[in-house]
Amino acid sequence: MTDKAEKQIAELSKTLNEHLYRYHVQDSPTVSDAEYDALFKQLEQLEAQHPHLIKPDSPTHRVGGPPLEGFEQVKHKVPMLSLNNAFTFEELSDFDRSVRERLETEEGGEVTYLAEPKLDGLAISLRYESGILVQAATRGDGTTGENVTDNIRTISMLPLKLRTKKPPAVLEVRGEVFMDTASFDESNKSLIAAGDKPFVNPRNAAAGSLRQLDSRKTAKRRLSIYVYSLGEVEGVEAPASQFKILQWLSGFGLPTNTEIKECIGPEACFKFYEFILKRRPLLGYDIDGVVFKVDDMIQQRELGFRSRTPRWAIAQKFPAEEAQTQLLDVEFQVGRTGALTPVARLEPVFVGGVTVSNATLHNMDEIERKDIRRKDTVIVRRAGDVIPEVARVVVERRKKGARKVKMPARCPVCSSPVERADGDAVARCTGGLSCAAQRREGIKHYASRRAMDIDGLGDKLVEQLSEAGLINSIDDLYKLTAEQLTSLPRMGEKSATNLLESLEKAKQTTLARFVFGLGIRDVGEGGAAALADHFGSLDAIMAADETSLETVEDIGPVVSASVVAFFANADNRAMINALIDHGVNFPVLEKAAVEQRLEGNTYVLTGTLSSMSRDQAKQKLQRLGAKVSGSVSKKTTAVYAGASPGSKVTKAESLNVPVFDEDALQALLNENEL
Ligand code: IVH
Repeated sequence: MTDKAEKQIAELSKTLNEHLYRYHVQDSPTVSDAEYDALFKQLEQLEAQHPHLIKPDSPTHRVGGPPLEGFEQVKHKVPMLSLNNAFTFEELSDFDRSVRERLETEEGGEVTYLAEPKLDGLAISLRYESGILVQAATRGDGTTGENVTDNIRTISMLPLKLRTKKPPAVLEVRGEVFMDTASFDESNKSLIAAGDKPFVNPRNAAAGSLRQLDSRKTAKRRLSIYVYSLGEVEGVEAPASQFKILQWLSGFGLPTNTEIKECIGPEACFKFYEFILKRRPLLGYDIDGVVFKVDDMIQQRELGFRSRTPRWAIAQKFPAEEAQTQLLDVEFQVGRTGALTPVARLEPVFVGGVTVSNATLHNMDEIERKDIRRKDTVIVRRAGDVIPEVARVVVERRKKGARKVKMPARCPVCSSPVERADGDAVARCTGGLSCAAQRREGIKHYASRRAMDIDGLGDKLVEQLSEAGLINSIDDLYKLTAEQLTSLPRMGEKSATNLLESLEKAKQTTLARFVFGLGIRDVGEGGAAALADHFGSLDAIMAADETSLETVEDIGPVVSASVVAFFANADNRAMINALIDHGVNFPVLEKAAVEQRLEGNTYVLTGTLSSMSRDQAKQKLQRLGAKVSGSVSKKTTAVYAGASPGSKVTKAESLNVPVFDEDALQALLNENEL
């Protein structure tokens, strides 16, 4: 009986471990989660009946075991060292020079380095004896760490048994435990839902999860691991280069990072560093730099160690993405549509590679959610190219009586009342074009690349021109003269001529760009394109009422109302006329003539069409000027029914509205489309 159970347990373990490997390492699972779970249950039951048969590599260890009183201490046979850091290319070339000097590399000779991302997690040592994971320990102080074997076993991408027929007697590998961004977000969601405090960052989340005395809790967090170096090895000759070691470890089924590269010389290293810096946001996990390791193990041995760091490796660190600073004040910026955006004025701080003195606070809800108060100590974050933001408050440093941030009742620029409409997430200045800030932002938008694309007229210059009183509205741009421009500081004759030329050149545009450039509230690039496409001319758009606007694909009641309101405003119409008088022009789209053919007709589509979707049919009819309605009434011109139509056909028959089939619809379209 036991014999049979033993065999079954061994086979189930093997199968389950194989599935985990396919899923986590190879990324190509061959069974469904449900099938996996069923096999897992089977194994659990067998082990419950025969507890003495539970093996150290059993996948059931992955769900965690009973909590520990405390962690045992583990003395590292080979100390776990740290790395020297470099922050500039110069420091990296200094490192390379000292490596070449020590190795007595011949004149002009280059050293080969293996570049690996520097994972932002916790260093771990894993000890496999005869292929079985027997111990996992944290780095601790480098000499003594903590035994976290139960917790490490819950990491499903890590093999509990090496995938090899001839495992080394001892294989100690080192690597990094981390939490990927998706698991971090997931963990925080469930912590918040349970009313607990979320983790500050993925590194803390990984550390917190790994140092759980109750490994069942660790099992609930999805941790990851990549191995990157060797500790004690017995009974086998390790490969002769860092690159080959990683391949070797990967061959044992151990997870290794594939974002690595052999780089010859420091320039190649720096190129890879810049490459990874760009890839950083796409990796799905946090890294804080690139580690360069002399690839050749003989050279590594020759170089040796300082007291705590190897001479054969260096970590080229990324600029920190977060920094602590003082929130001096909160001001409100007025946007093109009057929206008031809170902006943090900060004690300047170096973060993400630049000095930051302003950061967005997004909106009032965000301020409330993060409980940001005036004069708080805050953490500023600037990741990649994104706009710097206040990530959170250091509450421990808050001074007594710190004042909350309130939305001002009046516009800080024009003093018009500020209103927050029902259902609108933002509060707005009601000043419209009487507000200088709204006008100025409108000009920036008009000139911007995706709108009129006026070369050389950036935000800074618009601000300068507004401040000098040279432009108050969009059409003022076309009244600028060379003398006015050259009177501005830092504006030479050449720049002035260039600007006037690009203003002239950009007058020739498309209807979609022009409509987008007008800055109508709620009309983005896509909306403007849809309007231009549908109506074909500016006159037609200006004449459209809300009902006809809503027949345009992707244009809903909110946008329609904004469009109508914009063109109903006499100032706006006068400005458009002025622009056209100045020579702004765009070709009228040819389609207009065709479009009118089905004007005045209202159709209803029902059932399943075979040659196109109902949506496509609707668009085609609308493009020809027809209305397409969702319900049949006396006003319906005709109903076109595809397969298995519903009650609409009966309704049509009762109202004497003609009902046609798909062929007839096809014929109607063919007849009228050019
Ligand atoms: S190699 C002799 N490679 O960085 C030291 N370390 O600052 C061997 N780290 O404690 C370390 N990614 O936790 C190495 N690809 C990588 C790494 C890496 C992250 C961490 C590791 C180490 C710390 C040193």
